[in-house]
Amino acid sequence: MTALTAAAPGAPVVELDLAELRRDPYPAYARLRREAPLAWVPSVGRHLLTRYHDIVRAEKLPEVFSSREEGSLLLRVTGPNMLREDDPAHRRLRTAAEPPVRPRQVRDLWARGFEENAGRLLDELAPRGTADLIRDFAEPFVAANLALVLGLRNASAADIGAWSQAMMDGNSNYADDPDVWLRAANATGAVDAAVAEMAEIVRREPDGSVISSMVHAPEPLELAEIQNNIKVIIGGGVNEPRDLFGVGALALLRRPELLARVQQDPAAWRRVFEEAARWISPIGMYPRQLVQDFEIAGTTLPAGSRVALVIASGNRDESVFERAEEFDIDRPHQPHLAFGGGPHFCMGAWIARHEVTANAWPQLFGRLKGLRLDDDCRLDGWVFRGLTSLNVTWQAA
Ligand code: HEM
Repeated sequence: MTALTAAAPGAPVVELDLAELRRDPYPAYARLRREAPLAWVPSVGRHLLTRYHDIVRAEKLPEVFSSREEGSLLLRVTGPNMLREDDPAHRRLRTAAEPPVRPRQVRDLWARGFEENAGRLLDELAPRGTADLIRDFAEPFVAANLALVLGLRNASAADIGAWSQAMMDGNSNYADDPDVWLRAANATGAVDAAVAEMAEIVRREPDGSVISSMVHAPEPLELAEIQNNIKVIIGGGVNEPRDLFGVGALALLRRPELLARVQQDPAAWRRVFEEAARWISPIGMYPRQLVQDFEIAGTTLPAGSRVALVIASGNRDESVFERAEEFDIDRPHQPHLAFGGGPHFCMGAWIARHEVTANAWPQLFGRLKGLRLDDDCRLDGWVFRGLTSLNVTWQAA
């Protein structure tokens, strides 16, 4: 099905400035939800679908809203992978990769390693009294955890962090910057080599990791399939939990009374996590392509139409979330869309939940006394959104 690169007949056309979207996409999303809930946006080359219930509807129809988007930037960076396949090809890849990241395996296999990784980083940080928590804590922490879970014993946390950033920049390179493509290609070459080496080792000695699971699956994967899917996981496994950590930490640092309350009631860390994911979703949107004509949000999209499901907007839909722009861990329970939905629901959700709510936040806030914001922070991005830095000070110990 050839991708259509123009507005569907009758679809409203809305001009949005990409630089403005990166700075703060939420005012544009509010306008779209109100005035044009399905709009063709020329600078993005897609129809943006922005209301909660329309996004949920699309997610429930993967046979109409295909993940096999032609010209996908992700495909260009990583090659064919589970995220850009539909079932049954998608299911085969996901079934091979998923067992090590289910809740029970997270608890039994990885929880202790995560705790040690956080403890080691905090041992190094504690005497300093000042840090950028994104660069100096969150990123190396989640990258070290990912090396463990994937089975990349031959890569450092710094390698994984740098590869992830270079690939993610490629995945969102809508501006087609050649330097971004070059850095992404260097990173994917390095990941391919590291995965090839470890796949050989775990073929002889299985180790419970994701690479091992893919090598020994009932329907084993080819090396290229393992490499491509590990690239996707490295992309998603660093940026998003790092960014969610940052947004939640910022919300707590701005409201010391809320932080004190959460520290008294450890079950509340999970509510902070889910609310932070809703409030400023680490993934703002992802693409789909229609395989047949379909009517949604008042427009009939022809087969081949390109649509972006703007989950960051659905998560601020005021018809679903009252005072949607406020961070409120006590709001009535209503599922957010930050992990997607349907067959591609985030595979690493339990890893992210555990590492952030059981380790990163409680260990950090428990250990660094008198922690406070050093200066104001800046959020950036709309395809992916997070803090560019989170500078803090504390009483050095
Ligand atoms: C707060 C953290 C995270 C958020 C908000 C998040 C968000 C998402 C979203 C929205 C999708 C669906 C994309 C689509 O349908 O096109 C997704 C898929 C995925 N995520 Fe995550 N993610 C997070 C953490 C992680 C981690 C830690 C890992 C790996 C350990 C991971 C691995 C994946 C994989 C492999 C997929 C593709 C699943 C499939 O195609 O079946 N994610 N994630």
